[in-house]
Amino acid sequence: MLRSYIRGVGSYVPPRVVTNDELSRLMSTSDEWIRTRTGIVERRYADEGVLCSDLALEASQRALADAGLAPSDLDFILFATLSPDHHFPGTGCYLQAKMGTSSIGCLDVRNQCTGFLYALSAADAFIRAGVYENILVVGAEIHSSALDFTDRGRDVAVLFGDGAGAVVLSRYDGAHRGILHTELHADGRHARALCMDVWDISKKPYITRDLIDSPALWPRMDGKTVFKHAVTELIKLFQQTIARAQVRAEDIKYVIPHQANLRINQMVGEQLGLPHGKVLNNIQKYGNTTAASIPLLLDETYRAGLLEEGDLLMLLGFGSGFTWGSALLRW
Ligand SMILES: CC(C)(COP(=O)(O)OP(=O)(O)OC[C@H]1O[C@@H](n2cnc3c(N)ncnc32)[C@H](O)[C@@H]1OP(=O)(O)O)[C@@H](O)C(=O)NCCC(=O)NCCS
Repeated sequence: MLRSYIRGVGSYVPPRVVTNDELSRLMSTSDEWIRTRTGIVERRYADEGVLCSDLALEASQRALADAGLAPSDLDFILFATLSPDHHFPGTGCYLQAKMGTSSIGCLDVRNQCTGFLYALSAADAFIRAGVYENILVVGAEIHSSALDFTDRGRDVAVLFGDGAGAVVLSRYDGAHRGILHTELHADGRHARALCMDVWDISKKPYITRDLIDSPALWPRMDGKTVFKHAVTELIKLFQQTIARAQVRAEDIKYVIPHQANLRINQMVGEQLGLPHGKVLNNIQKYGNTTAASIPLLLDETYRAGLLEEGDLLMLLGFGSGFTWGSALLRW
């Protein structure tokens, strides 16, 4: 049986730690408000001059080293981000040049907090179809340049942080390891509940002088709608994934969910009746790093020595679009 499996994993966060107290000096917020509503204690911000592809490079090199492969062993790059280096070309191309691979294909994925799972699922399909053998799947974000650090933007600004995570997905001939099942969903009717209008191609020119003072420059969110849909869809998705993959909830060692809000993940775990400790979180340290959240948490879990070969893992994501998805895999 031809499958794909995670051969190597790596992550990177920029060194600068930004606490809730630091944010409360920029806008009307508090450590207490942020902790109780979201679970976030601190996040990382990249310095001026650092690009999304720079964070991705660090994470990718660590994933390659973990896989015991060289850049020349890669056949393809899938890069998930909502904060690309530039409007075009895709950030995968910048990463490819920095890594020094040959002229392998690079595909950027624009699916926000579900971006990594969309990329992983596409990489899995390429490998199972026999097209490629080793694919680098990266999720990386620099949010800190595009947040409104005033009271107007405080609901969004406190949530997000910068970071990167990567896996090398490789061909596996056998039935004992690898990705067993993936699910991808979207509902574009809710696109306006979490979006950023800064590139409005209907405007001629698409950037106007007054944009700099307009709220369209920043991401905006209907937090309650996002919260409600995230909980509902993640619960349905978990149940659907285990039913389709024909496994039981108790067979899953860890759920590695997207990190949008600790309360979302706690509510999902409780309503599914999962035992305490099965749903993993690290949002406390990094906030929401969008496409990087899942591989970052996977890498931390792996490096903490919590994963053994054969463990069943459920990756779950939900985000802007709305988009949501899962991957069930045997480590
Ligand atoms: C953003 C979120 C934490 C807000 O929590 P909430 O309980 O819904 O809070 P509300 O939006 O009802 O706001 C309550 C009050 O806090 C205020 N507030 C918003 N952000 C604040 C902040 N950072 N600090 C202090 N007060 C804040 C609001 O203005 C509101 O004030 P009001 O009652 O005077 O109008 C929550 O809705 C959420 O996490 N949603 C999901 C977000 C998400 O997951 N996004 C990413 C998806 S991938």
